[in-house]
Amino acid sequence: MKPESESHLFYQVGLPRPRLHRSEGVYLWDVTGKRYLDASSGPMVSNIGHSNPRVLAAMKAQMDKATFGYRLHFENEAAEELAHSLAALMPHTLDRIFFTSGGSETIESCLKLARQYAITQGQASRWKVISLFPSYHGSTLGASSVTGMKQFTEPFAPMMASMPKIPAPTCYLDHDGLNLEQRGLRYAEMLREEILRQGPETVLAFIMEPVGGASTGALVAPDSWHRRIQDICKEFDILLIADEVMTGAGRTGKFLASEHWNYQPDMIAMAKGLAAGYAPLGAMAAQRHIVDAVMADGGFAHGYTYAGNPLACAAGLAVLRESERLGLVDRAAVQGARLKGLLEQLMRRFPFIGDVRGKGLLLAFELVADRDTMQPLPKEMNAHVELVEEAYARGLIIYSRRTRGGLEGDHFMICPPLIVENEHLDEIMNVLTDSLSALAQRLGLESRAVA
Ligand SMILES: Cc1ncc(COP(=O)(O)O)c(C=O)c1O
Repeated sequence: MKPESESHLFYQVGLPRPRLHRSEGVYLWDVTGKRYLDASSGPMVSNIGHSNPRVLAAMKAQMDKATFGYRLHFENEAAEELAHSLAALMPHTLDRIFFTSGGSETIESCLKLARQYAITQGQASRWKVISLFPSYHGSTLGASSVTGMKQFTEPFAPMMASMPKIPAPTCYLDHDGLNLEQRGLRYAEMLREEILRQGPETVLAFIMEPVGGASTGALVAPDSWHRRIQDICKEFDILLIADEVMTGAGRTGKFLASEHWNYQPDMIAMAKGLAAGYAPLGAMAAQRHIVDAVMADGGFAHGYTYAGNPLACAAGLAVLRESERLGLVDRAAVQGARLKGLLEQLMRRFPFIGDVRGKGLLLAFELVADRDTMQPLPKEMNAHVELVEEAYARGLIIYSRRTRGGLEGDHFMICPPLIVENEHLDEIMNVLTDSLSALAQRLGLESRAVA
C-alpha cells in the first residue's frame, strides 16, 4: 500500500481523516482495519448500504457494454429506463425527467426551467425565488442564492441575485401560547406577506425541503403549514419546487417526502439516495405542461456533459430495484419509528438534549443549554464538532451542523442506511450514549442543563 504522504486534496475544512479501505452494508473500514458504523449514510446518501453486490453487478454490466455515450449523439437504455421508473413514482403528470450529477446541479436546473417557463407564459417579470431561512439547496451560485445558511452564502453575496427568504417553520422554538397547527399557519402566512411585499408579478417560485435537511436538523413543519403554503402558491400562480435531494428515494418512509402531505409540486429535485453513493446522479422531475411549453419555445437552454450518463443511470436503476426488492421505503418508516423512540429515551438521560425530530430515517437531535428556553449551547463550545469527534473515535459516524442559520446551535443527524437492522440500532445507541457521556463530562454539560 502507498504510504500516506502529504495530501494535495482540500475540501471545506481540514479535519484529519484516515483513508477508506472498504465498505459493506452499514459499515466502513479504514486502512488500519478500524470499523465504523455509518449512522448518517455519509451525508444522507447511502440509502441501500455500501457495496451492494446487485448494484455493483449492474454497474459492471453497463461498463462492459458502454461507459459513455453523449446525450446529443445517443439515447441510452439505462437513462430511458430509469426515467420511466421514476416518472411512475412521481405525482400525476410530474413525469418529465432531466438527469444531472448531483443536488446542486438539479436545483440549478429547476430554477432555470422555472424561469424559462415563465418567459414562455409572457411573464418575464417573474424571477424571484422565495426560500426558507435556514435552508440548504446546494453550493453552486444559483443554488446558493436560495440557500439560507449565512456561512455558505455571505462571502458570495455580491456575485448572486439576492433572493427573498422567509423564516423556516421552527415552531418547536416558539413560546407564544399558540398550538402547533396555529403556529404552522402563522409561518405559512409569512410566505403570503413576502409575495405581496415583493410584488406577486415578480415572484417566480417558492422552494422548500418538505422535511428539513442538514440546515435545520430534520425539521418537520405542522400539517397546517404544508396545506397553507400550497394554497398560497396556487393563489399567486407561483411555482412550487420541492427539494427532495435529501428526503427523496425513501429516506422519510415514503418514496417522496411530498407524499406525506399530498403535494403536487411543479418540480421535484432528487439526488443523494437516488444512486445512493454508487455514482454521481441527480434528477429533476417537472410537470409535463412546463416542459412542453419550454421545448415548444426552442428548448431548455441548459445542460450538463454528464446528464443522463449511462453508468450513473445504471447505478440509479439498480439502486431503485434493490430498494423495491428489499422494501426499503417501508423499512425506513418502521426502523425510523424505532430509532426515534430510542433517541427520545436518550433525552431522559441527557437533559441537554433539547429536541428529537424527523420522519422515517431522517432523524436529528439538538443540544441546548436550557430545554425550557431552547437557548443554544455557547457557540465557543463547538459541541457540533466535539460530539461528532467523540463518536468518530468510537467508530460511529454521525453528521452535524449549526442549527440557527448556521451561526449557533448544535444538531446531529442520525440517518443510517435504510437496511439498518435492530442490532445496528442498539450499537448506534450504545456508542452515542458513551459519546454523549464523554462530551457532558468534558464540557460540563450536565450541570448547566435543566432537567
Ligand atoms: C436539500 C438539499 N438540496 C441540495 C443539496 C445539494 O446537493 P449536492 O451536494 O449533491 O450538490 C443538498 C446537499 O446536502 C441538500 O441536502
